[in-house]
Amino acid sequence: MDTNCKEKLEELRAAFEEILESYTDSMCFKPDILKESMKYSLVQGGKRLRPVMMFACAQMLGGKVQDVAQFALALEMIHTYSLIHDDLPAMDNDDFRRGKPSNHKQFGEGQAILAGDALLNEAYSICFAECSKGKTYRNAAAFLCKNAGASGMIAGQAADLYWQGREAGKAEADFIVLNKTAKMIISAVTVPAYVYGADENIIGLFSEFGKNFGFLFQITDDILDETGDFEKLGKSVGKDKEEKKLSALALFGREKSEELADHYCDICLKLLNEMPFESEFLQALTRYVRSREA
Ligand code: IPE
Ligand code: IPE
Ligand code: MG
Ligand code: MG
Ligand code: MG
Repeated sequence: MDTNCKEKLEELRAAFEEILESYTDSMCFKPDILKESMKYSLVQGGKRLRPVMMFACAQMLGGKVQDVAQFALALEMIHTYSLIHDDLPAMDNDDFRRGKPSNHKQFGEGQAILAGDALLNEAYSICFAECSKGKTYRNAAAFLCKNAGASGMIAGQAADLYWQGREAGKAEADFIVLNKTAKMIISAVTVPAYVYGADENIIGLFSEFGKNFGFLFQITDDILDETGDFEKLGKSVGKDKEEKKLSALALFGREKSEELADHYCDICLKLLNEMPFESEFLQALTRYVRSREA
């Protein structure tokens, strides 16, 4: 990534950290363990990819970070809850997340379930408050919530668990990735288009970009589970094979998966080129994710 794009990445990340900090500072939930367990998973170590992408898309459309700040916060809270639950013994049973013990390792399973539930419900309250800003905000909130729910991320997680250790093919693997990962990234990049009342064509382009970016992101996540470094990733490696997770990597092997990652990367770059906006930063971010180590 060139210096300009790196600076932009840091600037957008810092903008998000500030928004998050002002939210966590204002949290006054009781008992203390509830507040502490929510804060524990929210505050450190995440790459903040989804908020950064949302901010970059808002700017691409001529808007400002502040216009979508609350949606970025809600999305990162839903993402964080999904990670807390994903790590539970009943799901992926992972002991580390974002460079620290997983939420349930720190607070126990019951509190971890509740921390996740609380983050989800608080995120919905934030979205609900945004709805008073007008119709375009209501459309954005509805889109974000739908992609997180039973026809989005949760559907993907349910399928991910269901197909574990079962015979299945590419259609099932694609369903998992589209829903558990891509839908949340589609929200990140498309919410700004909804907020600014963009036409269907533009919404479609952002949505398609988010989908392909989601596939690229998950395939690199799956490859890193096999080849990555615990220190850099901040989470356990080697678990997917052990747990017989269904993925393109499990079905087709490493070489074909690298080719697929290249393919999704190319589609993302092509879609960005088709957009009538300056997209240098998102192009750099796409290439960065293709070769990421964390
Ligand atoms: C992890 O997401 C879950 C997947 C969709 C693979 P991230 O890799 O974005 O996790 P954080 O937010 O940086 O911890
Ligand atoms: C998790 O996918 C996706 C969601 C949490 C929705 P993974 O199970 O592959 O994510 P990691 O590898 O634990 O971060
Ligand atoms: Mg999982
Ligand atoms: Mg997992
Ligand atoms: Mg993974």
